[in-house]
Amino acid sequence: MSDSNKDKNVQVLLVDDERHFREILAKRLVQRGITTLEASGGEDALKLLEKNAIDVIVLDVKMPGMNGIETLRLVKEKYPSIEVIMLTGHASTRDGVDGIKSGAFDYLTKPVEFEQLLRKIRQAEHKIRRSEAAKKEAEFREHIKQKMAINERLVALGTIAAGVAHEINNPLAIIKDAAGWVKQILAKPEMVDIPRKADFEKALDRIDSSTDRARRITQQLLQVVKTQSSEAVDPANMKEVDLRKLVGECIALVELEASYKKINISLETSGETPIVQTDPYQLAQVLLNLLTNAIQATGEGGRICVAVHASQKQAEVTIQDTGCGIPKEHLDKIFEPFFSTKTAGEGTGMGLYISRNIVSKLGGKMTVESQPGKGTAFIISLPL
Ligand SMILES: Nc1ncnc2c1ncn2[C@@H]1O[C@H](COP(=O)(O)OP(=O)(O)O)[C@@H](O)[C@H]1O
Ligand SMILES: [Mg+2]
Repeated sequence: MSDSNKDKNVQVLLVDDERHFREILAKRLVQRGITTLEASGGEDALKLLEKNAIDVIVLDVKMPGMNGIETLRLVKEKYPSIEVIMLTGHASTRDGVDGIKSGAFDYLTKPVEFEQLLRKIRQAEHKIRRSEAAKKEAEFREHIKQKMAINERLVALGTIAAGVAHEINNPLAIIKDAAGWVKQILAKPEMVDIPRKADFEKALDRIDSSTDRARRITQQLLQVVKTQSSEAVDPANMKEVDLRKLVGECIALVELEASYKKINISLETSGETPIVQTDPYQLAQVLLNLLTNAIQATGEGGRICVAVHASQKQAEVTIQDTGCGIPKEHLDKIFEPFFSTKTAGEGTGMGLYISRNIVSKLGGKMTVESQPGKGTAFIISLPL
């Protein structure tokens, strides 16, 4: 639950046709710090819901006109996140059961015991806040996933473009040289009288200027890719980040995935409180990449230990797994773009390349230690 949710006051709508009962109850709720609106029936309630953000409805079942169950169904259809507590007559708990079947949070029988109602309201509020938090987390996860996928594709495209530009530069240089060489020969005295000499010269000039143009294009392309990948971090995104908290949030995001393979992820912290000045989204991307790699490399029932350690000068995050390890001959290749030992659907080979770029943009370093067959540790260190 975030702080803003804790501070947010629960808004209750009390729906009952007995005015006296309703007014007394509303007064007592307000006395206990609960913002309470009143409605005398179902139609009235639905009208109020259009203009007010209500969290919990306390709804009488027996009302003239639209009864409680009908009102409940309409409310749940239009506002599924609102929780409804039904109030039923003493001898008609059946109504309560019907209510729950139609989506009510719970029911109480009249006469209402005030403290019990208050507890129910608090429970309903708690349920709402929990599902709000879960929704936020799912959104954050989706956002990061999308960002990662787009970023990986962009960097991959840029890397290909840079490679192509680089490769094309060599033949272009050869063409330009060769054209220059032919032009020099044409300039020799013995060539003075050859037929259509001027046409040849014109053609050579066109080859020369066209290769220049092609080279300018490849150079611009290289420049764009270079400035993109070495781009300084956007200062607007830099924030004071509690590294321990960020690591914890990233672990929570991959826990479900790990649970499919019965992998246990632990978090250990030591030293000072690791507050780093950094871009939390980019750093989360790095951590998620490393955690995902660790999960993919680790077999059923394995372990991943994440440790955050901070000293005066730097903070270190170690992600250690009990996975397959990395053979020695791969160790210096894994940070290269497109290096992957996974199938096309599972890996792009861009994760570590991007991650290392991000870490160095943030002023830190990323290293790896691995024992084939035993496991791997990736270590990120960031200046404090
Ligand atoms: N924790 C790890 N354990 C074993 N191998 C790993 C680990 N992390 C990365 N690797 C190796 O490094 C390669 C590159 O990783 P990465 O750049 O993230 O690309 P991808 O995961 O898409 O293959 C992986 O394909 C894998 O062979
Ligand atoms: Mg990866």
